[in-house]
Amino acid sequence: MEDYCITYNDWKPEEQKLREALCTLGNGYFATRGAAEESSNDAHNYPGTYLAGGFNRATTEISGKRIENEDFVNFPNWLCLNFRPEGGEWMDLNQFKVHEYTQSLDMKKGLLIRAFRVEDSQGRCTHIQSRRLVSMHDMHLAGIEWQLTAENWSRDIELYTALDGTVTNAGVERYADLESQHLEPLNTREVDDESLLLMVRTRQSKYAVALGARTCIYHQNSKIDTLKETHQREGYIDQKHRFKLTQGEPYVIEKMVALYTSRDRASAEPSLEVCKDLKRMGRFKKIWLPHINAWEKLWRRADIGVIDGDKTQELLRLHIFHILQTVSLHSIGLDVGVPSRGLHGEAYRGHIFWDEIYIFPFLNLRFPEITYALLMYRYHRLDEARYAARQAGYKGAMFPWQSGSNGREESQEMHLNPKSGRWKPDDTHLQRHVNAAIAYNIWNYYQATDDIAFLSNFGAEMFFSIASFWASRVTYDEARDLYEIHGVVGPDEYHTSYPDSEKLGLNNNAYTNVMVAWLMQKALHIKDRIQKSRVRELMNDLNIDQQELSLWEAISKKMFVPFGENNLILQFDGYEDLKEFPWEAYRKKYDNIQRLDRVLESENDSPNRYKASKQADVLMLFYLFNLEQLKEIFRNLGHDFTQEMMERNIEYYKARTSHGSTLSRFVFSWILYKYDKKTAWQNFEKLLISDFEDIQGGTTEEGIHLGAMAGSLDLIQRVFTGIEVTEEALWIKPDLPEHVQKINLQIKYRHHWIAISVDHDKLRIAFEEGYSNKVNIGVLDQIHTFSQGEVRTFDMSGR
Ligand code: BGC
Repeated sequence: MEDYCITYNDWKPEEQKLREALCTLGNGYFATRGAAEESSNDAHNYPGTYLAGGFNRATTEISGKRIENEDFVNFPNWLCLNFRPEGGEWMDLNQFKVHEYTQSLDMKKGLLIRAFRVEDSQGRCTHIQSRRLVSMHDMHLAGIEWQLTAENWSRDIELYTALDGTVTNAGVERYADLESQHLEPLNTREVDDESLLLMVRTRQSKYAVALGARTCIYHQNSKIDTLKETHQREGYIDQKHRFKLTQGEPYVIEKMVALYTSRDRASAEPSLEVCKDLKRMGRFKKIWLPHINAWEKLWRRADIGVIDGDKTQELLRLHIFHILQTVSLHSIGLDVGVPSRGLHGEAYRGHIFWDEIYIFPFLNLRFPEITYALLMYRYHRLDEARYAARQAGYKGAMFPWQSGSNGREESQEMHLNPKSGRWKPDDTHLQRHVNAAIAYNIWNYYQATDDIAFLSNFGAEMFFSIASFWASRVTYDEARDLYEIHGVVGPDEYHTSYPDSEKLGLNNNAYTNVMVAWLMQKALHIKDRIQKSRVRELMNDLNIDQQELSLWEAISKKMFVPFGENNLILQFDGYEDLKEFPWEAYRKKYDNIQRLDRVLESENDSPNRYKASKQADVLMLFYLFNLEQLKEIFRNLGHDFTQEMMERNIEYYKARTSHGSTLSRFVFSWILYKYDKKTAWQNFEKLLISDFEDIQGGTTEEGIHLGAMAGSLDLIQRVFTGIEVTEEALWIKPDLPEHVQKINLQIKYRHHWIAISVDHDKLRIAFEEGYSNKVNIGVLDQIHTFSQGEVRTFDMSGR
């Protein structure tokens, strides 16, 4: 691994699917896994192409029940490229001798590069060097360039190029019993003698996709004539080029690809646009240069430099790279959310969960325009959320736990436990706390950007609708004179109901309750912040009267929080009655108990019976709010909150969490940092490699974990560099781990670009440019006013 490069120096078929996910290339509009061009779906390879928002619904019968899922469609494979010496075998790295093999992901340039020498059964050696890109400049373009040299043979060669629309969804083994046919063929056609066109459509969502590929061969920089033969069948078109090849001479093969869909803007019709591009796009180099340039601009804004003498830098860049390939400046023109597993695989069906809460902090301070677009994804689904609330008997808007195309609830009804082979109902959809995460994200976007227009036009409407939902969702307990929330599931997905109860949901999940109290108070704050006339409009449109506003206030002060002995915040009412889990015995019995839910279900048991959590739940509060904010929230609720209390709770739940979600390590690393740097660092190291080394054993190959990736970056900026955005100023209170020598980054804070560089001796802040003259930056505990162009250095050595 070099700073911007991940390199694999061997061909390891068994690792190929993981590498494919990690070497995915994308531009926020579409992405293609880093599968070998010559491969097709088999035990070790899974070429997959996904479009942002590319969903399709299908029904399957499982255990006598018809269930509908909205899946993330695997669109046609455009990679297909292969060769054989006339009469020989098509190249297959699993059959050929592979003498040298390197595969590297050049993240600076957004290129996937392979270089290898193979020998077929006749002893013919061929060297191939390939470069691939999915253009970050023009989101519709992609290309492959092969340089092929026959080292010890010279005869006719056949080159095979194709567009394959016969693919199905087969990337996740657990989903194998579900309907996997999402595409129907529409059309194949030869556009001219070197260009092919394929058109398909998703079966239910009628998403039409046109793909075009132009394949040309060059020798000594001139295009050579080849003998061509094109074949077409339903959903598939290929072309064979035959030409005479001279030993030792490099031949360059370029496959240039264009992709359009029926949902594009500024488009007459997808196949027409494809044909237009095929004619105009020129050679590989012509799309390569603006693509590299686009990446250069992105890196200038997004890079986070960390010097620690270890692999941290490369891994952080890998995380930045994949975030920007999943959501990019192209997302602004699309109606898409941020899928928790990227555009890198089919796991979680491309759905949008609450993971935004982990991803937005990185985007807010660099690409707030992307966060804006992603928040608008929610806004455009507000009506569906209103309908869901109404159907459930509530007011306002109830956003779904898993969201897809139109914003209805997309959580699967049944899921397969691969450990037991049993299909079980999925009980996690009652995670209504997503309706606090969205509010939290709106507020924090506003804090980072000062975008009052967004807050007033869209944010407040979502915020108030969510507040209205919760106001109708709480129950009032007269004896306690407090509000309660019953029948929900908290972030910890291991607890979905009380032991042996048929009824789903738990009462008073502490995290949810506190978040709701917080959001009520913020809703009232926003009401005072935006124009009075807009407030009147909203109250009228959303049917909110003074009485309801008083209820919001009452809830913000009188929300019940379950406490146990010694100030322990109980995860939910009745948590104290659960049994302690025999952690040691299970660690001995199983290699990996991260997914304790699957282990226990396979033993006909359930985590519902134990004090065992999948991920941070109560502790999420200590990640989302700092100590001062927590003190205020709890004070409002009539409780004292102290650092000691926080530490006690962390210690308690730390011993009872299996980290069955990659998000958990991140939160633990964050919350432990202030008082147990060693364990925090250990968690951070695990977090960094969680996808790169696939620490959950087989999940990364189904898609990366974007929340955890973004979380690692957020730790650098908000914990180690100590950046905190508050109402009055941007605070910077560095607290570098001893392993880290230096951090360099730049952020966009309320229209200003600020460059920050910190080591153990000094902190350098440069107010580089912006749209106004002055900005308040708090360093340690004093606020300084910076003018444009000003650079100041602060002494950190005494800290
Ligand atoms: C976690 C959720 C998360 C989801 C998608 C689950 O395993 O428990 O918190 O939202 O994955 O990343």
